[in-house]
Amino acid sequence: MKNNFYITTPIYYPSANPHMGHAYSSIVADFFARFKKIQGYKVFYLTGTDEHGQKIETAAKNNNKNPQEFCDDISKIFKELTKILNLSNNDFIRTTEERHKKSAENIWKILEKKKEIYLSKYSGWYSVSDEAFYSEDEIVEENGKNISKQSGSLVEWVEEESYFFKLSKWEKPLLKFYEDNPKFILPETRKNEVISFVKGGLKDLSISRKSFKWGIPVPTNKDHVMYVWLDALTNYLSALNYPDTKNELYKNFWPADLHIIGKDILRFHAVYWPAFLLAADIKPPKRVYGHGWILSGDKKMSKSKGNILDPLEIIKIYGLDPLRYYLIKEVSFGNDGNISEEKLENCINSDLANNYGNLCQRVISFCEKNMNLQISENIEFNDYDNLELSSFSKNYLNISNFIDNQDINSYISFIVDRLFSANKYFNDQEPWKKKNDKVRLNTIIYTSLELIRKITILLYPIIPQTSLKVMNIFNYTEKEITFDSIKNNNFIKKDIKLTKIGILFKKIEKND
Ligand code: MSP
Repeated sequence: MKNNFYITTPIYYPSANPHMGHAYSSIVADFFARFKKIQGYKVFYLTGTDEHGQKIETAAKNNNKNPQEFCDDISKIFKELTKILNLSNNDFIRTTEERHKKSAENIWKILEKKKEIYLSKYSGWYSVSDEAFYSEDEIVEENGKNISKQSGSLVEWVEEESYFFKLSKWEKPLLKFYEDNPKFILPETRKNEVISFVKGGLKDLSISRKSFKWGIPVPTNKDHVMYVWLDALTNYLSALNYPDTKNELYKNFWPADLHIIGKDILRFHAVYWPAFLLAADIKPPKRVYGHGWILSGDKKMSKSKGNILDPLEIIKIYGLDPLRYYLIKEVSFGNDGNISEEKLENCINSDLANNYGNLCQRVISFCEKNMNLQISENIEFNDYDNLELSSFSKNYLNISNFIDNQDINSYISFIVDRLFSANKYFNDQEPWKKKNDKVRLNTIIYTSLELIRKITILLYPIIPQTSLKVMNIFNYTEKEITFDSIKNNNFIKKDIKLTKIGILFKKIEKND
């Protein structure tokens, strides 16, 4: 079995500062990366910035900067965000780097050599904001303006000489590819959208622009720059040192296991990208998962709509792990999710402070008051203890499957369910009444601690900082966080002294 896992986020346009939507894709990808890591996989997690094209050139002009300077400034902010969000990414790629240019040029040359590209003229609609070409039937007129039906973005009429990729030729091979790889596109609804789009007929795709300069020059004709999406998608290869296909990174990690993207860029990843790769004789990625949008007041959060929730502000007020937890739990993965500070506060209070925080606090305080934090070897599990503890080993395969199907919702439901159950266990067992029965007392405490440990391991991919803090109770570090260990009911050494922890999550006081 291949023990490597390659996961990517979209590379973000540094046209404006990052917002919650960007943070969301990155946090979700980090969740999968961290889970795979504790499962024993060698993980390569990539993120970065997409710096060419008309959108960036225009944004730079509006800020009176040259495009490179402009990208340097904003890309730096995206890179800092990876630290602020505690992402475990292994690399941060920028499409203005030489390593990427080399890789994109190489793809172009291969496509040209294989006669997949021809020179002609493009006349049609283009949206600078989406960096996308749209056909006539994808456009509507609203208040005298032409906009894309799909994204609502303004489009303009473009007529210029352009290179084309023979996308039409790949219609059937793509349909066959989707059929042979039924989980290439998830969730299922998005897969159906893509298949009907492809069945509706594919036109050849314009892949170069001539009317502006901010891009990678076409290697064989410097009057053109490469279409920004062909350039950008190649980033997933560049980070593995493509075109050097003999190097370890490429050999170990290509084809990518999972591209996490928003549903807005599904067509590029699920149609154009595999078509480019099939045409270049490179294996397509294994899966593209198109998640929903973070909405603010029913609208997609975006700079142009002016409805941004700033992740930095939220983190300053509530902390990082609450935000990570909230986004992963409350935005039903795959669907759109409306987020608000009020919902975030409720989630912190109910799940993190009352449920998880309280469980840890109660057990440790009890242990401190009654056992001086010293656990004992003298324990005997009864049926109730065993039932509670073994619900993890029983669900071990289910949990792996949740992850492999990107079913975050079931994963987190399992955790929440186990948290309730562990709290109930502690209440029902009433250790405060067992002071005269040392064996039972020791066993209840040991079982509760094992439950805390197991839940904490499952929480690690979501709230890594807090999980590490809790693991510190047992003097464990990151290396003791392994998925396999949730099957073990006797993992915690029985003769250790526990370390006290402070409050994990402060309850948010409401004024009403
Ligand atoms: N540069 C392209 C992607 C190239 S990938 C080869 C791009 N960049 S973007 O800056 O517009 O970011 C797009 C991604 O950010 C979306 O696909 C999505 O993953 C995330 N989001 C941006 N706004 C979002 C929301 N409001 N909600 C959720 N995610 C969104 O497109």
